[in-house]
Amino acid sequence: MASVLIVGSGLAGLLAAVRASDAGHTVTLVTKAELAESNTRYAQGGIAAALFPGDSVEAHVQDTLLAGAGLNDAAAVRVLCSEGPARVRDLIRFGVDFDHDESGLRRGLEAAHSRSRVLHAGGDATGAAIEAALIATVRRRSALPGPARPGALRIKEHTMLADLVLQNGRVTGALVAGVSGGATSGATGGSQVTRLIEADVVILATGGAGMLYRHTTNPSVATGDGVAAAWRAGAAVADLEFYQFHPTALAVPGTPLISEAVRGEGAVLLNSRGERFMLAVHPDAELAPRDVVARAIAAEMHAQGGEPVRLDATMINRAKLESRFPTITAACAAAGLDWAAEPVPVAPAAHYWMGGVATDQWGRSTLPGLFAIGEVARTGAHGANRLASNSLLEAAVFADRAVRALDESMVEPFSVEPTPLVELVETPASQPSNATRVRRSAHLVSTSSTNETQAEMPPFTRTALADLMWRCAGVHRSGTGLDEATAALAEWASRAPASEPLSAVEREDANLLLLAQLTVAAARARDESRGAHHRADFVLTQPTQARSRAWRRHDDTTA
Ligand code: SIN
Repeated sequence: MASVLIVGSGLAGLLAAVRASDAGHTVTLVTKAELAESNTRYAQGGIAAALFPGDSVEAHVQDTLLAGAGLNDAAAVRVLCSEGPARVRDLIRFGVDFDHDESGLRRGLEAAHSRSRVLHAGGDATGAAIEAALIATVRRRSALPGPARPGALRIKEHTMLADLVLQNGRVTGALVAGVSGGATSGATGGSQVTRLIEADVVILATGGAGMLYRHTTNPSVATGDGVAAAWRAGAAVADLEFYQFHPTALAVPGTPLISEAVRGEGAVLLNSRGERFMLAVHPDAELAPRDVVARAIAAEMHAQGGEPVRLDATMINRAKLESRFPTITAACAAAGLDWAAEPVPVAPAAHYWMGGVATDQWGRSTLPGLFAIGEVARTGAHGANRLASNSLLEAAVFADRAVRALDESMVEPFSVEPTPLVELVETPASQPSNATRVRRSAHLVSTSSTNETQAEMPPFTRTALADLMWRCAGVHRSGTGLDEATAALAEWASRAPASEPLSAVEREDANLLLLAQLTVAAARARDESRGAHHRADFVLTQPTQARSRAWRRHDDTTA
């Protein structure tokens, strides 16, 4: 039996903790805020699975591949879709009360699904229902007496991953730090003392990095800490250029999501002239793949001087809107909007990172002792554009497989080199400490930094970074914008303080700056448009580039 450190408490982290505990492993679960705070909690639409008559695993596979724009790992997709139904049944056993009526589970339709197959709970509070059920299960396990017994589960909230620890090339634990005040949104500045948690295996389940962008549906904890730590430790990361922008976030402060399921129920998008512009864009109109809808909205907004487009759900009756979408109804009401009576303003927002720590179909990273599951991982299941409601599914399927891999002693790393789909790019940045890590990451790619840039550059702030990323590496990208971002990020990196980050906010800022550089470097390297990555200077998809790109920090010891 192994000692397992799990970082993160969304669906992936919680499910892995329960599974590992049940299998007799000793589990420590750390999370940066409260157990309940994660991207999972805000997931509305649901979880997709081929569970219904008239549907099939094959149809779900085909829909996932089509949305993924030629970049999926076909084997990972098959694992996702074929094991998904069993994992959904597991969630039901753990107490998730998916919406149902007398004829059984109810199901919704979302964009680019050829069938209605999206289960939901509490109407549009699916993620919150899953979190609640799994947290209750995890807390029950952690309350059992005997901290050293097989299956013991310890929970440490307000504890942030600082860095992974390696011995002889193997991950043997992590440095963590307490987060004062319980928030990481910029409000906390107190210094942190790091301490070591040793483990036979570390499982990263830290989610995505929506805070890279000005507009995001993610909570403030989404700062990509797991991807950044894995990179620093020397793990391969892949597909970082593919950040999914959800087409319809409510265009009010806080950017609450308006689920694609609303369009699945018949809502339509209107421009400022009241026209259904999606009809001219794609045969599936509002239910076209997410990247297509997001780009069309961004273009329409540009044409109308930046004004958001409108989502018209008034054809769905008020009672149905309130019962099927209570979370969204409340978010609209909080913004002073009555969406049953009038179209509401919507705009794209950063939502989900398809890229992340490169893993195989068992969640194994390229470093021995390190696994990654959920949004932090790039399994290849999503390709260049994730199909709606496949993210909760991926978290459940690969959390389960990672723990099975522990059971089956499959804890060796996998190698990305032999995989023909993956091109490994080594970068010349050697990073012995946190401070130099950030500074030297400026050398990830050649920069066009000039004295002029340096003179004009405002000081680094998280807001300035998120604005830059939104403008230069957002829904629409171009070589010029990516060059501008490269130079600005390099300049900020060169100004980073020489000392180790001391507070949670400083750690998050260092992570975001590093990840912004990696994302922009990956976006620059992909001179085509594909899925969520769209370049105005390379508008076509190039068949020759239908492959993932993995990146790894250069390691001086093997050079
Ligand atoms: C939504 O409800 O539109 C979001 C679901 C998802 O991102 O998969």
